[in-house]
Order: sequence, then structure tokens, then C-alpha cells
Amino acid sequence: MRMIDLIHKKRNNESLSKDEIEFIISNYVSDNIPDYQMSALSMAIFFNGMNDDEVANLTHAMAFSGETVDLSPIKGIKVDKHSSGGVGDKTSLIVLPLVASVGVPVAKMSGRGLGHTGGTLDKLEAIEGFKIELTNKEFIDNVNNVGMALVGQTANLVPADKKLYGLRDATSTVDSIPLIASSIMSKKIASGADAIVLDVKVGSGAFMKTIEEARKLGSIMVSIGKSLNRNTVAVLSNMDEPLGHEVGNANEIMEVVQVLKGQGEKKLTELSLTLASHMAVLGGKFDSYDEAYAEMSKLIENGQAINKFKEFISAQGGNPEFVDNLDKLPQAKNHFEIVSPKDGYVGFIDAEKIGLAAMMAGAGRKTKADPIDHSVGITLKAKTGDKVAKGDILAILHCNSEDSESKTLILDAYEISNEQIESKDIVFDVIS
Ligand code: URA
Repeated sequence: MRMIDLIHKKRNNESLSKDEIEFIISNYVSDNIPDYQMSALSMAIFFNGMNDDEVANLTHAMAFSGETVDLSPIKGIKVDKHSSGGVGDKTSLIVLPLVASVGVPVAKMSGRGLGHTGGTLDKLEAIEGFKIELTNKEFIDNVNNVGMALVGQTANLVPADKKLYGLRDATSTVDSIPLIASSIMSKKIASGADAIVLDVKVGSGAFMKTIEEARKLGSIMVSIGKSLNRNTVAVLSNMDEPLGHEVGNANEIMEVVQVLKGQGEKKLTELSLTLASHMAVLGGKFDSYDEAYAEMSKLIENGQAINKFKEFISAQGGNPEFVDNLDKLPQAKNHFEIVSPKDGYVGFIDAEKIGLAAMMAGAGRKTKADPIDHSVGITLKAKTGDKVAKGDILAILHCNSEDSESKTLILDAYEISNEQIESKDIVFDVIS
């Protein structure tokens, strides 16, 4: 088999067989196929797409391109959750304690943030003492004893995705539905999930800008999951504005606590309960989604969810005192108020600009090697649809320097309109 013939086939919009896809992935990972040929193939896939069988075969070949995680020592159906990425997305840290509280084991591997989106691991490291590296035994024991554990991805998990993602990033081929679907699903399958709930973000701050595109991505991922015997549900949710009121690591941990105590923003709470309920149904704990949603809501009201969160933090070496005293989280020195330039209504908040403003002030990384300041963040006081008068506070930038560029970006992110715009629902659709 020769790579040039396979590029030629895809360029002519023919489909690739299972053997051909396996040949491509194994030879790319072992450096026998050079980046320039893989770039050409990625661009051909970008323009001509792939059929469902090709995407399932690509996912399978990528998932088994390196180490895989064996979760068989954990009893029960292991359900994983994945978000396609957004700004202010702290739902994993809300959803996992909810699901663990009803006895669905969660053994989750998460990533770090890069660019304008934050990563769950970075958020957890805002907590004093929290360890994101556990031995395999500690990881399994914690899931069996506490019901949940969350660690960084092992270095050799899905090496094909690590190489290919870097290449796509540099060749303008990231936003291809078959390539995104196989990238996400290969990581879920390699991390040992029996069932998967996907949060597919739609809107200006997401890869998928329209519901139609998101529905296509969600449907492909659900069908890949099913073809590989992993029951999969995709929730399509709004990312036209940042999720919740807080962006930044310590800020988002604070908001997680607020939601788990029943004091959180309505939409963030609703999305978290929706994802958790689908996970609990896939985990076999409830027969219906409605029953699961009602029970999940009770876990917030009766304190079980926040207690599970504290238990999880302690089990991974973290000091849980901040849960009852949020001042114990890292605090920035400066708190700059960004005010409305005129009377009106918040018409739109550009999530990408808010994410970039937080990153530039120190909450995220421009390159992989950059350090993070966990105390830096943004509080969004006004959200889409809110009425504001000239001089009202739109947002607060918490930082440790002057960060005038970030202040400008936050102000730019807010569109103040003369007419009130209805804020959209948080959950658009569910594909199963
Ligand atoms: N998230 C991933 O893990 N991969 C993609 O290709 C896009 C988003």
C-alpha cells in the first residue's frame, strides 16, 4: 500500500477501507508517513468528508494507536463525559459528584486548557494540595471507594490524535466534522468508557457555529459510539456566551461550589443536571431521564452532591476548606470594573474574546509551556438579555497587573443593543 494512492483516492472523493485507514494511522504514528502527506490527506478529508464507516474505522484505529486504560477492576457501567470545548465550561466538576452520588462510577481523564478555553485540570490545581497525578492503583481505588477520580491523560494515550491534532492546528483542518468526531471519540474509547455523554457546544464561542453543524457532529459521534458498543448520547448546548458567571480557574471552582450548594446560575445548573441525568440513565441507575433529573436535583438540595465533591477533593490530596470559605481560594490583588458605555440591553457576549481576555491576564496559556495564575479571572455581572444603564458594571477583571489589553477586550466582547434580546435556551437538542 502506498500513502500517495490513498491521498489520491480521498482527493477523488472515494472512500477508504478499514485496512487502508489502519495502514495510515499506524504508519503515521511510527513516523513512516511524513507530515506533508498526512496534511494532504487531512485537507482532502476536510473537503470531501468521510462516510460513517470510514469515521468509525478511523476512530478505532486512533483509539488503539497507543496505550488504552483498563477499567475492568471497577464495578458497574463506567460512563464518561466530554465537552467539545467552550469558555467558562466547568460542568465536569459539577456533573461528576452528582453522578458519583447515585453510584455510577466515574474514572475521568481530562486535559489542560490551551488558547481561549480553560482545562479542568488547571481549574483543579487552583485548589491547595490537589493532585492530578495518581498511580493506576490510586486511580482505581479512588473510583471504587469515593465513586469518582479525575486525572491527567497518560502520555501515551491516543498518540495518533496528539500528532494529528498538532498538524490540523497548523494546516487549518481542525474544524472538519469527521476529524473532530474521531479525535474526541478515540480518546473516550481509549480511556475505557463503557458509555459516553457528549456536550456538543454550539455558537460563536464553539467549533460548531450552527445547530445544523452541531447536529451532524453529534449524530456522527453517537453512531461511532454505537458501532463500537458504547452507548452514546449527545447534548447540544448553547455557547453563544460564556457559561455561567465566572471564567478563570479559582473563579470557576467558586462557581462549581455555588451550583453544588444550590446557589448557582440557572442555566449552568440546568445544563449540569441534564448531562448528569443522561449519564445516570446510561449508567443503569434510572429508567427514565425525567426520574433521573428529579433525583439529581434533590442531591443538590439535600447536600449530598457538595459532600461528594468535598470527599473527592480530600481523596486527591486537596484541602476542602475552601468549600465553606471561598476566600481560601487564590485571590487576585486587583479587581477592575468594566462598565457599560450606554443605556440598553446586553445583546451578545463574545465568548472567544472573554476567553482571550482571561488568558492574556494570566488565567490561561498562550503556549503549552506558559505558567498559569490561578487567581486571575473574570466575573460576568451582566449576561445576554440583561438591562443595563450607562456606568453599570458589566464585568470585573480579577488580575495581578494592569492588564489594559484584557480590559479593552472585555468591553469589546459586550454588545449593548437598544432592544432587548431574548436569551436562548441552554439545551438545544439531545441525540441518542
Ligand atoms: N476536541 C478534541 O478533542 N478534538 C478536536 O478535534 C476538537 C475538539
